[in-house]
Amino acid sequence: MEKKKFYITTPIYYPSGKFHIGTAYATTLTDCIRRYKKARGYDTYMLTGLDEHGQKIQTVAEKRGLTPQEHVDEMADKAKELWKLMDIGYDDFIRTTDERHVKAVQKIVDIFFKNGDIYKGTYEGWYCMPCENYFTETQLVDGKCPDCGREVKKMQEESYFFNMKKYENWLKEFYKENPHFIEPESRKNEIFNNFINPGLEDLCISRATFDWGVPMPNDPKHVLYVWLDALTNYITALGYMSDDDTLFKKYWPADLHIVGKEIIRFHGIYWPIFLHALGLELPKQIYAHSWIVMKDGKMSKSVGNVIYPETLVERYGLDATKYYLLRLMSFSQDSMFTPEDFVDRFNYDLANDLGNLLNRTIGMMNKYFEGTIPTNIIERTDFDDDLENYTKEQISKVEEKMDTYYVSNALAEIWALIGRTNKYIDETAPWTLSKSEEGTEKLKSVMNHLAENLRKIAILLSPFMPQTSEKMLKQLGISKETATWDSMNSNSEISENTKVISKGEPLFVRLDREEEIEYIKNAMKK
Ligand code: MSP
Repeated sequence: MEKKKFYITTPIYYPSGKFHIGTAYATTLTDCIRRYKKARGYDTYMLTGLDEHGQKIQTVAEKRGLTPQEHVDEMADKAKELWKLMDIGYDDFIRTTDERHVKAVQKIVDIFFKNGDIYKGTYEGWYCMPCENYFTETQLVDGKCPDCGREVKKMQEESYFFNMKKYENWLKEFYKENPHFIEPESRKNEIFNNFINPGLEDLCISRATFDWGVPMPNDPKHVLYVWLDALTNYITALGYMSDDDTLFKKYWPADLHIVGKEIIRFHGIYWPIFLHALGLELPKQIYAHSWIVMKDGKMSKSVGNVIYPETLVERYGLDATKYYLLRLMSFSQDSMFTPEDFVDRFNYDLANDLGNLLNRTIGMMNKYFEGTIPTNIIERTDFDDDLENYTKEQISKVEEKMDTYYVSNALAEIWALIGRTNKYIDETAPWTLSKSEEGTEKLKSVMNHLAENLRKIAILLSPFMPQTSEKMLKQLGISKETATWDSMNSNSEISENTKVISKGEPLFVRLDREEEIEYIKNAMKK
């Protein structure tokens, strides 16, 4: 049977500076969902990349004494290095300066022109440079940018406009028929209240005040507005409007665009309209996550509260970093990073709950059965049924949460299972069973159940913490190939004579709380 496809994208990042954990979050999240879908049997395709044009990039490059191209080339190498460090398994990395992209965008604009979607006019408005976006007077909040809260400047220029108004009714109808197009729903309500219900404004899609961008095909003194250039990356990367559009035919429409909450307007209004104007199918869903914030607000170099993924990965390991980011962020609210919380989660969740469960089990398996996992169980304990039922329920809950992208909640369900499995050790008291001849058969059942649950926990963790998952299976002596998602349906997957490791390395070594909090705090100031 042909596999179902799953095309997932990250936002393409502005290469204006080093990526902090907030920016790394979207990519980590996307990769986690990709891994989950892959484990569930989907043919996945993940796209990430860089949004390299626009005034902001030009200004940053000038400040560094580089040409914009030199600057973005350097940044692209750095971004790829970071994703390698974070073991992000993207299938393609698009850069909006790629020739394949530039050519395709120009063809897209040609189509808009031919269809009468674009007209020439004069633009006057309030411009926010960091956001590369114009606002009307009424959209400003306290006279500042409604998206980022920074200063805006009044500007006027001759520009090309995209006729958004023409599509307003269609867009409203579309949302009526597809109420879950944007998740969480609160984000959809925001764009309806702020932009769609008051009436759509036509969108200025060209700039003539700088030249670092894709030239307008028939008027090259204008460059394309960076958002039109950027949004189309999701289709140009697949070869739309190129000589080879095999990937486009195979993977479009996207199944999921992951975006941050502040860019939902572009993805929830302009992107559907552009696609509709091209006669293309719309993505199935857009998931707008919230922000990782710090005690003193947004991460900012000048405040000295920025934390970079490299700092955490190098000192605490990749999986601890991924675990923290994925567990921290709730579905719809901003979540606060604190060094205290990071260290506590490491110690409690990873070293204690998960690490100890594996370590204790491996230790007992060696002590009582010379390292061989008992199979062919003939006597059960009074606690086995409950553990088995609970485990089954938790697996369904994880699936349910992951299918709706409640990733942090899915992790919480896995930790509930870890907690329940630890409790099973206390309930069955293997140390007592081991003392008598009659206890031996029950002890076998306990060890088998523990190994089975650890196997399932390793599989459940594989999309979130792939390295830890592999290490767990290795210590249990179970091959990675047999540890498939579907194998969790069975309680007797462990083959006879499976031998656990004689002395397992701890998965996570407990941290000195004060010392590590200090370490992270210092790193934030650099
Ligand atoms: N270039 C645009 C996206 C174009 S997509 C067609 C852009 N780039 S960005 O570099 O500014 O941001 C990239 C992503 O990082 C956004 O989705 C943004 O929400 C996310 N984050 C930036 N800071 C963040 C946090 N502190 N927390 C979580 N995500 C954050 O926007």
